[in-house]
Amino acid sequence: MSRSPRSPLVAGNWKMNLDRASARHLAAAVVAGRGAVGTVELVLCPPAVYLETVGDAIAGSGVALGAQNMADKPAGAFTGEIAPPMLLDLGCRYVILGHSERRALYGETDADVNAKTRAALAPGLVPIVCVGETLEEREQGRTADVVTTQVRGSLAGIPPAELARVVVAYEPVWAIGTGKVATPAQAQEVHGLVRGLLGGLADASTAAGIRILYGGSVKPDNAAALAAQADIDGALVGGASLKADDFLAIAQAFARD
Ligand code: PGA
Repeated sequence: MSRSPRSPLVAGNWKMNLDRASARHLAAAVVAGRGAVGTVELVLCPPAVYLETVGDAIAGSGVALGAQNMADKPAGAFTGEIAPPMLLDLGCRYVILGHSERRALYGETDADVNAKTRAALAPGLVPIVCVGETLEEREQGRTADVVTTQVRGSLAGIPPAELARVVVAYEPVWAIGTGKVATPAQAQEVHGLVRGLLGGLADASTAAGIRILYGGSVKPDNAAALAAQADIDGALVGGASLKADDFLAIAQAFARD
């Protein structure tokens, strides 16, 4: 059980999976089981084309809607892109930014993530800003350096009052979709580092209120040990979020007594 003063958040990153009917069905199943997770805030992040379908399925349930990416501009000639106000218009409260797949496959830099984070905060979206080291970086002993650069770069110049609204997700790249979860101690070490960095970017009391999620092969059988760590305030769940029972079981692990 989590004893943190921060309210726990568990987000499902559906990535580029499902079709419209299965997205609607999965969202409805999460809503149906929502009572079992107490005060844990649930967020569903479907593919953008299914945001409206999922938004309809969760309307009035308390389950929140999130996007997986967005543009850093409010409108204009950016073919194929989706603007932050459009996400708000569809009922999104959250948006995942700087996921390692965006960074590795689509070349997003910390500067890009910083621009998107500001663009999300401006109209009132809550960004879930992802950071995390690769296996090679961890093996070279560079985890702290890499995460420090990503946190400072992605959140540079954001005033403390705005930073207070950000959610950070620590997702070691070597743990994403691999079945290799970071040990609770490995995760806590980085989460503690991130909270210290947030204190430096804002102040200690702001940092104490910011939720830091762990992501990377979170499953029902490893969630409780992660949830027991002082600075792990929830999870960003990929594969296991595609099964309502698994997603809800993970969320339950983060429920407070
Ligand atoms: P995973 O993905 O849970 O399938 O490892 C996590 C993520 O990429 O957010």
